[in-house]
Amino acid sequence: MEHFSVRHGETHCENVALRTIAEAVGTPSYVYSKASIKSQLQKLKSAFASYPTHICYAVKANSNLTLLSEIFEEDVGADIVSLGELERALKAGVKPSAVAFSGVGKRDDELRRALEVGIFSFNVESLAEVENLARVAKELGKIAPISLRINPNIDVKTNPKIATGLFSTKFGLVEAEALELVQTIAEQKHLRLKGVGCHIGSQILDLSPMKEAAERMASFAAKLVALGQKLEFIDMGGGLGIRYKNEEPPSIKAYAETLINAIKPTGLNLIIEPGRLVVGNAGALLCSVLATKKTPKKSFVIVDGAMNDLVRPAMYDAYHGIACVAKKNGPEALYDVVGPVCETGDIFGENRSLPELKSGDLIYLESAGAYGSSMASNYNTRPRAAEVLVDGDHFKIVKRRESLDDLWRDEIL
Ligand code: LLP
Repeated sequence: MEHFSVRHGETHCENVALRTIAEAVGTPSYVYSKASIKSQLQKLKSAFASYPTHICYAVKANSNLTLLSEIFEEDVGADIVSLGELERALKAGVKPSAVAFSGVGKRDDELRRALEVGIFSFNVESLAEVENLARVAKELGKIAPISLRINPNIDVKTNPKIATGLFSTKFGLVEAEALELVQTIAEQKHLRLKGVGCHIGSQILDLSPMKEAAERMASFAAKLVALGQKLEFIDMGGGLGIRYKNEEPPSIKAYAETLINAIKPTGLNLIIEPGRLVVGNAGALLCSVLATKKTPKKSFVIVDGAMNDLVRPAMYDAYHGIACVAKKNGPEALYDVVGPVCETGDIFGENRSLPELKSGDLIYLESAGAYGSSMASNYNTRPRAAEVLVDGDHFKIVKRRESLDDLWRDEIL
């Protein structure tokens, strides 16, 4: 959270006090730092500068249109997983030729639109998908560029809900199956095999599985080239972890070196699909305290943000730092910080050491830029939070808080 700092006893995002944002926009609100996003992209670009690499930002991490347009301005493409993400990315100015379409299931209308705009690659995961793509491409008279997503069966030490590289998950193709598909693709004149790839999981804090996966992709690609396939790239997905608490994630430089060293012998271009790394530590969820209360067992701070705004703690037992906007001196005690949603699991943080808080005080959840707003829901008929982008001394609302009317606009009474 490099771009969030305490000045004169108050937390600022870049040069703007979080309190100023809370007063102008209300809470709960997501607050993002533009400088943080830009600096992550610069670090990525310079780390991979020595090798032909295309960065496709994983739109699912945060798909706010303004953030996307800031990202695409840096000559970065998009990794998308739905028609919605494709349309968002296009609206935000992505070059269609820089879009990779991932995901284990794609509908015909999604394939059709992606073919019409001319995306860079369909990351294909099954025979059924190859057949569908061949049919839709033929109907449109187009040639579909394909990358085969391999499941390398590599165990990654991360939350099992976000590990994707094992045979026990739905993702990717077993290498032998992928080899058979190469033949099927070669027989279809509306399909062209361009690459191979994998994505072994998210919030990865150790480079050794990445290295193993990259070496496996390199040797599989070399095998295909030896069979006469004209491959152009290897797509290594996303997944590099960030610091939420006291993790020591590998540096972007070390990550780049690991991937480049493994892929270089093939001479193929490298694609990466980072999401969390770009936006995770660029955002905070700003909330107001509604009340504090005590049971014989616990003390609670009840805030106006909840699991519908940021589901990661409830869904993955994920840790997010929780801090007060105004630094308070004085004794601290242990609190569970919870939201108003009617579920016991609506907990942002357990046993957090915090000063005495009262209704109206501001707190914020750290590292909420990735998989926060993009996973938000309207559970408990709660409007989704506003989103704000800070740029130096200025801030602007990049998503209005939903109104109640927005919530039932499409319902039929
Ligand atoms: N590429 C593919 C094919 C993916 O499935 C993902 C993430 C990414 C790239 C980006 O991964 P990243 O660089 O952000 O780790 N909601 C979970 C994370 C789910 C990740 C899903 N796939 C969370 O809040 O931790």
